[in-house]
Amino acid sequence: MNENIIPHEAIIKKQDRWRLNQHKSVILWFTGLSGSGKSTLSHKLEAALYERGVRTYVLDGDNVRKGMNKDLGFAPEDRKENIRRIGEMTKLFMDCGIIMMTAFISPYREDRAMVRSLVEKSEFVEVYMKCSVDVCERRDVKGLYKKARAGEIKNFTGISAPYEEPQNPEIVIESDAMTLDESVAKIVQYLEEKGCLKC
Ligand code: ADX
Repeated sequence: MNENIIPHEAIIKKQDRWRLNQHKSVILWFTGLSGSGKSTLSHKLEAALYERGVRTYVLDGDNVRKGMNKDLGFAPEDRKENIRRIGEMTKLFMDCGIIMMTAFISPYREDRAMVRSLVEKSEFVEVYMKCSVDVCERRDVKGLYKKARAGEIKNFTGISAPYEEPQNPEIVIESDAMTLDESVAKIVQYLEEKGCLKC
């Protein structure tokens, strides 16, 4: 780190923003295969929280890999850098006092653990979208599994690149067995039980 970079201390602190927002900061870190439903559930959850007056934001491939991270591909080092930048971004969002959802495959345990270590313990909630490759492949919403099987996409997670399942996620959503509404309700209940939706 450059020793000549000296952070300016904020007057308005995280706890002040919590009071203003009437809730705490949280990262709901969705991880799982392509097609497991991370983005769909994140946006549906965001809509449910919005109705309750919660300040939220979703980071997913659409707003990150097409912008800030458009220089990155899918080799292991690129995925690592993808997650590192998103992690640093979420850390800033925690200071903003919001509840955010991130929807990235994030296939490596080490990378997810690194993000967890960046923020307060209570702020990081790992949500594992548990769904077999078979089901994701049958859904093939974007037609990418077909291309991966045909060898047109290299290093495709679940087909020709690894996915390391979370060992101790805070929440597991079996997206091939639960409805979207049930999944939203499970996460909202978790946030309520942990006292995240008040301050
Ligand atoms: S991550 O592994 O670096 O976390 P990320 O979530 O940002 O991945 O992007 C995954 C999305 O990019 C997939 O849902 C899919 O639409 C697309 N994609 C393109 N190439 C690949 C690939 N080789 N492996 C996985 N997903 C890919």
